[in-house]
Amino acid sequence: MLRSWALVGAAFFLAFASGKKIWDVPRAHISQVNSAKVRWEPQCQYQLRHLQDGVRISAVLPARLEGHWISTGCEVRPGPEFLTRSYMFFANRLFKAYQFYYRDPSCRDPTYSLVIKGKIRLRQASWITLGATEADYHLHKVGIVFYSQRAMLETVARLNQTGVRCSGFLPAGRTWVPGALYELLSAKGEEDCTHGLGFAMHELSLVRVEKYHQPLLLQHNQGSRQVEELYLGDIHTEWSERLQYRPTGYQRPLQNAMHHIHPCPACGIIYRADEHNPPVLPARPELPMLLSGHWVSSRCEVRPAVLFLTRYFIFHANNRSWEGYYHHYSDPLCKQPTFTVYALGHYNEGAPSRIVRGGTELVFKVTHARVTPMDQVTVSMLNSSDFGSCGEAGSWHIGQELDVTHTNGCAALGIKLPHSEYELFRLERDGKDRSLLFIGERPTDGSSPNTLNKRPTSYQSPLLQCGGPSGTLARHSLPHDPERLSAQVNHGAPKTPLSLLVFLAALMVNWD
Ligand SMILES: *[C@@H]1O[C@H](CO)[C@@H](O)[C@H](O)[C@H]1NC(C)=O
Ligand SMILES: *[C@@H]1O[C@H](CO)[C@@H](O)[C@H](O)[C@H]1NC(C)=O
Ligand SMILES: *[C@@H]1O[C@H](CO)[C@@H](O)[C@H](O)[C@H]1NC(C)=O
Repeated sequence: MLRSWALVGAAFFLAFASGKKIWDVPRAHISQVNSAKVRWEPQCQYQLRHLQDGVRISAVLPARLEGHWISTGCEVRPGPEFLTRSYMFFANRLFKAYQFYYRDPSCRDPTYSLVIKGKIRLRQASWITLGATEADYHLHKVGIVFYSQRAMLETVARLNQTGVRCSGFLPAGRTWVPGALYELLSAKGEEDCTHGLGFAMHELSLVRVEKYHQPLLLQHNQGSRQVEELYLGDIHTEWSERLQYRPTGYQRPLQNAMHHIHPCPACGIIYRADEHNPPVLPARPELPMLLSGHWVSSRCEVRPAVLFLTRYFIFHANNRSWEGYYHHYSDPLCKQPTFTVYALGHYNEGAPSRIVRGGTELVFKVTHARVTPMDQVTVSMLNSSDFGSCGEAGSWHIGQELDVTHTNGCAALGIKLPHSEYELFRLERDGKDRSLLFIGERPTDGSSPNTLNKRPTSYQSPLLQCGGPSGTLARHSLPHDPERLSAQVNHGAPKTPLSLLVFLAALMVNWD
């Protein structure tokens, strides 16, 4: 007990002492789930409570990497880079990893692939990112396969630009040979051309494995299916920091090829792929940016620099205003609340991004904020903040919300008001036809995207739509959509075991 408090204290000290801004755009947190002030949609409340109970999700400790892990969809890395991943870890600690890169945000137009071989050794539990395990890795070989002459020339030009000397790598005569594998890094280690591509495998230095059970629908026999997820370290949002950065957060998780969520149209395609047959994912329609409604975190999220949180947003398209609740926690399952921020403001009409295809650029203004400390550590911290820097000094109490708008925010929590942020949003539909909202990744250095050139080029983990504009679910839901069914169940009919099961199934985390 003592030890865990010391850890929590240390984590907070780190976060606050660094003076970093720790919440995100609309960053606020949420007051208690049961707070009467929050107009909770039943499904949003259900989703969050279930996250807080942490019933379904458990960490696999010590982490077990052995197996084949795959992306469940097209991923976006800062840059942007569009990719899918297929990583194999063997019992003798060797690994073979494929990274397939694409020109387009649907991962249908492959440009090149990297084949990465090496060895990994798990070390101790991380005390910076609670719940994670640190690892050492060593690369034996990195090879690249191009899928067109154009892709090859672009890569050669990129290497050229960075001034990395890589003469041995350049294919003779610069003519593309289909299927040829060129070595970027060889076992002999004479020449390392990976840096010129901004390539590093530091993601392997921070790992976490989680498992949970996905309930099945009645017609598929009762029961549940186990899902295993592998979280690997995050990629720095700043290109120039990428090669040095040691991760403190995670990327979108890979799933075990034998234990992944269903349905997952991309999983089989990625599982079967190799460097000569890159995965081409199924076409997806581009969705209009219909933000209206309620959106909630689909998991306990982790931010670089130690924070665990869940987010809940309400967007009102009629007057382009938004409200956000940011619930912060001290533990990786989001069970021990530390503080909640409620923020509100306006947003502008979005425009398609020319930098990140498939994304929409928006500007968010934060004009009001309220803070609710949820534990003693936070109360003491807020209580001792300088006069006029965070609400009424000395009047903080656990569970009591105070307005910090008149002090222009809360310096101790990095909240500045009024405040503008340049955002990147994307809407997707998952395998169950539910709407997912991807909001731009926060700058890894903890700053805020308050200038045009700090606008994100990648995304955080998606929010799940849990209520439509008028408290109903989105109109575009199909009639057979289990989510819609569960909404009806929830708003009207009394709960029966069947409705409950459908409801559970509808709320499952899904990453397709
Ligand atoms: C790479 O740089 C060399 C000299 O620095 C230049 O001659 C060559 O054309 C460049 N190649 C590409 C593909 O840009
Ligand atoms: C915007 O409209 C919504 C719903 O119609 C309302 O609840 C909210 O208070 C309005 N916000 C502002 C800032 O006018
Ligand atoms: C908060 O500050 C007030 C006034 O200085 C003090 O009486 C109270 O004990 C403090 N509470 C905590 C938890 O630090």
